[in-house]
Amino acid sequence: MEHVLSQRRPVAKTGIEISPLGLGTVKFGRNQGVKYPQGFELPSDKEVRDLLALAFDFGINLLDTAPAYGLSEERIGKLLPNSRHDWVIETKVGESFIDGESSFDFSAAGTRKSVENSLRLLKTDYLDMVLIHSDGDDERIFRDEAVLDTLLEMKRAGWVRAVGISSKTVEGALLAYKLDCDVVMAAYNPVYIEELPVLEAAVAQQRAVLVKKAFASGHLDKLGSANPVEHALAFIFAQAGATSVVLGTVNPKHLRENVAVAHDIFADMLPTPRQR
Ligand SMILES: NC(=O)c1ccc[n+]([C@@H]2O[C@H](COP(=O)([O-])OP(=O)(O)OC[C@H]3O[C@@H](n4cnc5c(N)ncnc54)[C@H](OP(=O)(O)O)[C@@H]3O)[C@@H](O)[C@H]2O)c1
Repeated sequence: MEHVLSQRRPVAKTGIEISPLGLGTVKFGRNQGVKYPQGFELPSDKEVRDLLALAFDFGINLLDTAPAYGLSEERIGKLLPNSRHDWVIETKVGESFIDGESSFDFSAAGTRKSVENSLRLLKTDYLDMVLIHSDGDDERIFRDEAVLDTLLEMKRAGWVRAVGISSKTVEGALLAYKLDCDVVMAAYNPVYIEELPVLEAAVAQQRAVLVKKAFASGHLDKLGSANPVEHALAFIFAQAGATSVVLGTVNPKHLRENVAVAHDIFADMLPTPRQR
């Protein structure tokens, strides 16, 4: 199943092209304060390296990380297979998670320090995407904080190729498009459709949407189907605005299954020879 996900989708007008499935890496670095149905041990370095290599072999080039994901950035920096330039690394700014507590800093100094720290941990001199890690009050962050202006400055300076927000409100995401954000990370799945307007507006405004919580954060029993993986991915990819689905997994069997299901969905979406 080599490179079954070789298709690439643009991130706004940034020149970045991403695979339709991305790998969410919160489980690489954090197993506290997370909402998964079962507790879990952090994977070993070998397991992380093998999972990244497997994802790459499938044609996945998008990695989602964040300072708030504990050791995730550091482990990606240390264990990334292939060349850094083969990957699209998306990280975040604003939330820290220390000793089981989240704290937020959206100031100009805080933003610069966090991005510089991410560059160091990820062992790179540029970040493909940096998203504001919202505390839930998206509009206040845009109205009162310096984080977006600081990210746009760092984009002009070449440290960051695309900026955006991992939003928690429709209003916040739509405002992000108005404020020149290239990409939004939004939750969407068969039992959570409140943020559909974010995907629809992305098509109209040629912005990218990274979909989080595709499997309801692992509560697949809640997705209301005997085939929850297929049901969820087909439901999400039916939306043209869903640029890439960021799946959180550290289980190679699940990654293989998710890729196979996505491959079949895309095969079905292709026009049949007669339709060509
Ligand atoms: N505020 C934010 O920015 C924010 C919030 C939430 C999530 N995210 C990002 O989005 C990513 C995905 O969202 P999410 O983690 O909430 O969850 P998700 O992708 O909806 O679900 C991930 C969970 O589903 C399980 N899973 C994956 N494939 C499976 C399969 N084929 N069969 C059975 N179980 C399967 C995973 O367990 P296994 O590891 O055992 O496969 C994991 O527990 C995260 O990793 C994170 O990077 C960002």
